[in-house]
Amino acid sequence: MCAMQRNTTPCYYTDYLQLDKLLGAQQPESPKYGQEAHEEMLFIIVHQAYELWFKQILHEMKAIYGEFNQQTIPDEALGRIASRLERIVSIQKLLIDQISIMETMTPLDFLDFRDYLVPASGFQSIQFKEIEITLGLKSENRTNFDKASFYNRLNATDREHLQALEERPSLFDCVENWLARIPFFEYGDFKFWDAYADAVDRMLTSDRAIIENNDYLAEQDREFQLKDLANTRRSFDALLDADSYREMQAAGQFRLSQKALLGAVFINLYRDEPMFQQPFRVLTALTEIDENFTTWRYRHVMMVQRMLGSKIGTGGSSGTDYLRQTTENNRFFKDFFSLSTFLLPRSALPALPEPLKKALNFYFHPSEVKSEQSTKV
Ligand code: HEM
Repeated sequence: MCAMQRNTTPCYYTDYLQLDKLLGAQQPESPKYGQEAHEEMLFIIVHQAYELWFKQILHEMKAIYGEFNQQTIPDEALGRIASRLERIVSIQKLLIDQISIMETMTPLDFLDFRDYLVPASGFQSIQFKEIEITLGLKSENRTNFDKASFYNRLNATDREHLQALEERPSLFDCVENWLARIPFFEYGDFKFWDAYADAVDRMLTSDRAIIENNDYLAEQDREFQLKDLANTRRSFDALLDADSYREMQAAGQFRLSQKALLGAVFINLYRDEPMFQQPFRVLTALTEIDENFTTWRYRHVMMVQRMLGSKIGTGGSSGTDYLRQTTENNRFFKDFFSLSTFLLPRSALPALPEPLKKALNFYFHPSEVKSEQSTKV
């Protein structure tokens, strides 16, 4: 890397941040129709602040995507990916908090200017849609209303831009490919998924004995618990059987491929091993991004209900009903929430063979440095 150059022209705060443009960009609609509505400034600034943070999120996502969309991802890249995902998580927390600033505007204040905004709406936030699409939301996964209205509310340039984005692999696709490539499932004679199936069997057989031998259980409760245990066994069996898994996938229970989900389960089970610590950080951050997105949607719909009651939105949707559906439906990494079903307590985990444990560890050991130094002296 070459040395950093010194600046040749003095930098001036106002120019550097282009504050003339930024602070000249708040143009309320209400004065055009009579008196300025005091609250419209807040409405504009809150939305603009969101759009700025969306821009930063997309900036991070672009870098993350560049690193992820490769056949092999070096360990140091995983560290960078995790840090950037964690930055997105922090920004999202701020975005969730900003809703309470918006809520200092009362519904009556909103009515002073709301009608001037028709048909503009959050629907037309291209950056928001870019974030959704980059994370992995496809048109076919959207709710029916959203499917029908998503593209026809946009101008041709925005529509073509988003359609092109949908064509390329999303972050979900990249993560799925990466997880499916996780090595170590088979190491010499050791077949991890056979050992895992045995461990599951031992655990569920022991659980069954506990339920059967519990004298304090009423017969009805015992039956209920045994039935529940049989369901748990079926879920484990389906995870390990390609055909049953495909059926679960077709029924919408999982979106990830079986191989990718198994990879995610493996990372979660052995996340204490040094080699899996960065992958685990990445999975945790993706899970938090999904959770924060859903929390934002939920907070937004609560605010909308408070502001509009059962009125329709300025963009023409049913308002709260539509938004509530997107909260449930528009998830990206929901599978990471369901995979806890397949975790075993650490005490029940199959022990990894010593050479595999070594392969998952960092090689450096202080004694090696000491002996090298002593030979040099
Ligand atoms: C008084 C405050 C707000 C109200 C009453 C409101 C209302 C609505 C309504 C009714 C919709 C559904 C689409 C429609 O028919 O228009 C919507 C969508 C949306 N709003 Fe808001 N909103 C408010 C504030 C915000 C803020 C501060 C943001 C931040 C950027 C925002 C971002 C969005 C986005 C991104 C959508 C599209 C969501 C999707 O299609 O999944 N809204 N909003």
